Amino acid sequence: MNILVTGGAGYIGSHTLIELYNAGHTAVVVDNLSNSNPEGLRRVAQIIGIQEVPFYNVDIRDRKALEQVFANNKFDACIHFAGLKAVGESVEKPWEYYENNISGTLTLVDVMRRNGCKNIIFSSSATVYGDPVEIPITEQCPKGQCTNPYGWTKSMLEQVLADIQKADPEWNVVLLRYFNPVGAHPSGRIGENPNGIPNNLMPYITQVAVGKRPELGVFGNDYPTPDGTGVRDFIHVCDLATGHVCALKAIERRCGLDIYNLGTGHGYSVLDMVHAFEKVNGVKVPYSIKPRRAGDIATCYSNPAKAEKELGWKARYGIDEMVRDSWNWQRQNPDGF
Ligand code: NAD
Ligand code: UD1
Repeated sequence: MNILVTGGAGYIGSHTLIELYNAGHTAVVVDNLSNSNPEGLRRVAQIIGIQEVPFYNVDIRDRKALEQVFANNKFDACIHFAGLKAVGESVEKPWEYYENNISGTLTLVDVMRRNGCKNIIFSSSATVYGDPVEIPITEQCPKGQCTNPYGWTKSMLEQVLADIQKADPEWNVVLLRYFNPVGAHPSGRIGENPNGIPNNLMPYITQVAVGKRPELGVFGNDYPTPDGTGVRDFIHVCDLATGHVCALKAIERRCGLDIYNLGTGHGYSVLDMVHAFEKVNGVKVPYSIKPRRAGDIATCYSNPAKAEKELGWKARYGIDEMVRDSWNWQRQNPDGF
């Protein structure tokens, strides 16, 4: 298939491009580079072994430019990663988050349907479950109250896409709820490249390990978890990437609307991650215990059985590979791209 990959220059998108080509697909990237660097795409092309990844520096809110992309290409499906994703920033700038993520998706979907492309895979998040009513979380678990505008954009866009599919059954919509992506391509050539102070755990750990930050703050050790620190379902980004290739199978069998958790099904605590990182990589990660972070929940991990049963997808990498590859990327690229 020929796939439109919005946000393909970003962290998850760039890893997914490699898996798409490995599986025999081709891809065209649309990205406005607001949170990414074209060097990432150059390295993706090197890893795949092609001259370059077809790329348009286009904002998905720019209808005219997007129409032009569709005029120049024929797409079988879109994998839609483009969006703003910083939780804290979304609290400071709610309008910018709703406008970028929601207007962008509405424009994209309208241009898609006008051009006869009605297959979309959407990057959603475990954040839509809020404080989940059951652990491990299945797709049947009801959506919950999000604690920030970023989370609400995901929850609302799931609803928008489901309603569009309901009104026009020619659409195939796959909502992928990611748990906590970490790691990098095993080559160490591409990886997560956050701007400023990282919000998420793994890039913070790697920046402490490489000496860019003095110590990790562990947000709370009084949660009702085995060691008192938060428990999450960390998933290697290459596993997440293959999840998208498998999700194309749902589209091939004309699924209508489908929802899948993409996680490993295992919960690891913050300190499990710190200790695994130190052991596997032989580096120290100084840390101190800080107060809980507002909006955090104690435990969040998936039941990924549905994706295995219906898509034949299962995470292959464990915690050791996650911490190894995160470090391999950071060590080789201390200042990112
Ligand atoms: P990322 O920021 O690395 O990639 C997103 C890409 O979208 C960036 O390259 C950015 O430049 C681009 N973009 C943003 N707004 C755009 C616009 N209006 N037009 C064109 N391009 C635009 O983020 P990521 O970690 O790769 O995440 C990809 C998707 O997965 C996002 O939608 C994110 O919300 C979602 N997601 C991420 C995580 C995570 O932990 N990384 C977890 C759950 C869901
Ligand atoms: C966060 C987002 C969520 C998003 C997900 C994946 C919040 C509240 N939620 O989830 O919307 O979908 O990322 O991108 O931000 N931790 C520390 N010290 C740090 C950083 C994190 O102890 O410096 C702890 C956190 O308290 C948490 C765990 O590490 O227990 C994971 O945190 P993080 O990587 O930010 O992911 P989530 O909070 O699960």
